[in-house]
Amino acid sequence: MLKNINSLGFTRHGDKQNSAFFEEYLIRLLEERDQMGLTSLIHEIDALMITVDPGHSIQYIAELALMTPYHYLVTLESESHWTHILRIDLNSPDILLREVKDPNLRGIFRSLNEVYPVGAKKPNSRYMGEIIRVSNLHTVVKLQQEREFRFFSPDEVRKLELPGNVAIGKPSPYTHNIVGYLERQPGDLRVYSLGMSVINSEVQAAYETSKNLQTKLGIDELLLPLDHLATRIYSQNREVAILEYLSWTSYYFWGAYNIFDQNSSTNVTKSVHGIPESKSPAKVFTANNTPYFVNHLEKLPSPTETFVRNYGPRLHHMAIAVKDGERDGTENIEYVVKSIAEQGKGFLLDVIGSKEEGLKQIFSNASEHSSLIIEYVQRFGDFDGFFTKDNVAKLTEAAGVEEGVQQSFN
Ligand SMILES: [Fe+2]
Repeated sequence: MLKNINSLGFTRHGDKQNSAFFEEYLIRLLEERDQMGLTSLIHEIDALMITVDPGHSIQYIAELALMTPYHYLVTLESESHWTHILRIDLNSPDILLREVKDPNLRGIFRSLNEVYPVGAKKPNSRYMGEIIRVSNLHTVVKLQQEREFRFFSPDEVRKLELPGNVAIGKPSPYTHNIVGYLERQPGDLRVYSLGMSVINSEVQAAYETSKNLQTKLGIDELLLPLDHLATRIYSQNREVAILEYLSWTSYYFWGAYNIFDQNSSTNVTKSVHGIPESKSPAKVFTANNTPYFVNHLEKLPSPTETFVRNYGPRLHHMAIAVKDGERDGTENIEYVVKSIAEQGKGFLLDVIGSKEEGLKQIFSNASEHSSLIIEYVQRFGDFDGFFTKDNVAKLTEAAGVEEGVQQSFN
């Protein structure tokens, strides 16, 4: 089985030009990863970690219970945090939603927000990273350390109040996200060794209200698990962020498209293991084509770079797949968006794309709790492309207009 994995054996998509450095090290890093056995030891994304400011997790769970297929499972209570576990099932990643109890608590994840003018306004609210399933934790950590990847020590993990059975890598200098490794065999339960396990009645009540509403609206059966996670990074970090992520994971470089109208590119990485995105979402990296300080010369739009300057490099949106089909004479995505909009949730634009092009997409407003946008994406028939350039240009522009409101922060 080891010999059969070839992380370089996939068709390349897109038109974005990469540097000679990128093309050389893409080959060298992935060949080495396959040969070392890392690719076959590292599997799907088992969980996402998100942190929110004090007082925000219950409302955020209510929001996610309405807008996504996630259910509230349990809360792990530790000294300074509540960590709520949200789950669809074991065939898609959990969400570990962590709320800091004391607004004055200082910590590494907070510090990643604090030097950015908008990010600092919600200092504890950010997407932290992914926990990835591995078949042998000890071997994977040892091999990664030999490649100069760094991890928090077990004592630091305990002090950070992160699950003690997860090896947590140091935050990426390029994305500010972390990758954690959890040893689990297929079919085993997902267990997070952290604090005391309780069902919080307030969380449970908020969750049930939203879930009942979701069922009443008839959208529960139309919403599928995550399709992709989109991270925004500084223009100069595009290639290194991709190569670094491929080195932490068993993903491959699917390809990159230049979105000329928005002066940015969209770069897609996916699991090599032939599993659907619903089990291990694609990771997408968006970066401006040029750094901010040449904008005044080039007169090009720059929504991606502006976002990163305001919030810091971070996850921008989580895309939820919508089941292909129609409900009450409208396409499912339109039905979902209309139903959710009627509950007072805003969207950045209308649904864009078409059946002919293969997919339709939309961005919600950024959550006031996590700052994350929910994207809905409906793919039609057997469309196997990842996106259309026209859709991405419109989505990027819409997000830029929304975030541009906040550009007055220096
Ligand atoms: Fe997206």
